[in-house]
Amino acid sequence: MSPDKPEVLVLWPNRPKQMAILEERYRLHHLYKAPDKTALLAEVGPRIRAIVASGEVGPDRAMIEACPRLEIVACYGVGVDAIDRVACAERGIAVTNTPDVLTEDVADMALMLLLMLLRDALAADAWVRSGRWAREGVFRMTRCPRGLSAGILGLGRIGKAIARRLEAIGVAVAGYHGRTVQPGVPYRHYPDLVALARDVEVLVVSCPGGAATRGLVDARVLDALGPEGRLVNVARGSVVDEAALIEALKQKRIAGAGLDVFANEPHVPERLCRLDNVVLSPHAASGTFETRDKMAQLVVDNLEAHFAGRPLLTPVPPP
Ligand code: NAP
Ligand code: 8YV
Repeated sequence: MSPDKPEVLVLWPNRPKQMAILEERYRLHHLYKAPDKTALLAEVGPRIRAIVASGEVGPDRAMIEACPRLEIVACYGVGVDAIDRVACAERGIAVTNTPDVLTEDVADMALMLLLMLLRDALAADAWVRSGRWAREGVFRMTRCPRGLSAGILGLGRIGKAIARRLEAIGVAVAGYHGRTVQPGVPYRHYPDLVALARDVEVLVVSCPGGAATRGLVDARVLDALGPEGRLVNVARGSVVDEAALIEALKQKRIAGAGLDVFANEPHVPERLCRLDNVVLSPHAASGTFETRDKMAQLVVDNLEAHFAGRPLLTPVPPP
């Protein structure tokens, strides 16, 4: 291994082919594998020039400070809330992410969670497997999506792809909540999330995580959504007050929730797992072979561009 290769700290492994390319080009240090992460960081931090992060795991200020030669953080994911971007900006450290390539898969996941909720898919599956169909007869009736109305918290790339899918199955998109009014968008902008929740039966969360959106979906929003309302979250667990959500689900103050993301991943509260009006997915919305390959390739290509002195492919602007 050449000592001249840039040294890269890997916080999260990505696809085998792209990891092999990285192994070839850089001297990698796999922090996620290290039995003593603090010791590894203390040893290699002073030589690290790039970090490979993910939507779930990114460098905090302490890790960035432990890497005084750090030039770039390449995130294997579009959401960069796990990265301390302020600390990066202070040092002129570039941040890249993986927009667009995962949009359609994440929107598929949102639609799948909603349809599974409406059609009671988990209980229907159990009805067949347990033999209850043969013993007890036909399964209970479920809920038709056509005629329902939905609101989108975060009408960005993914939110718009979700809106297209909702309209395709006959769910009217009543509006969206975000910080800005988007010109040319055929949906109403709701500056007040509670008002949006009050007007719809389905609320889909597809905004970024982080301090600005922490706990946006709280008990007030859930009560506005109401007993016929369903929540779908493919954004970040931090956007939803998870304790308030569990209470609302337990007390049937909302009808159900489809969740791909959680407050403290990979730990999901048992109280949530015990509920029968939820569909749970292990932060897997972008997790198809095809999409994850494209995400991993963007990590490779951004690092290549950086070390060749070329413009980055998908830079994230400083906060
Ligand atoms: P995007 O195109 O940047 O869209 C983000 C949207 O959220 C924008 O419409 C933005 O509108 C809105 N937003 C931003 N800050 C907000 C705030 N403080 N309050 C309310 N709305 C806000 O991003 P994207 O590519 O669609 O990705 C969205 C998010 O999905 C990611 O950041 C990530 O957290 C999540 N994600 C999850 C998975 C998964 O595996 N489950 C996979 C990919 C992405 P304004 O600027 O007008 O506020
Ligand atoms: C994860 C995501 O990054 O893109 C995002 O923001 O949350 C996901 O795509 C993915 O699970 C890889 O860690």
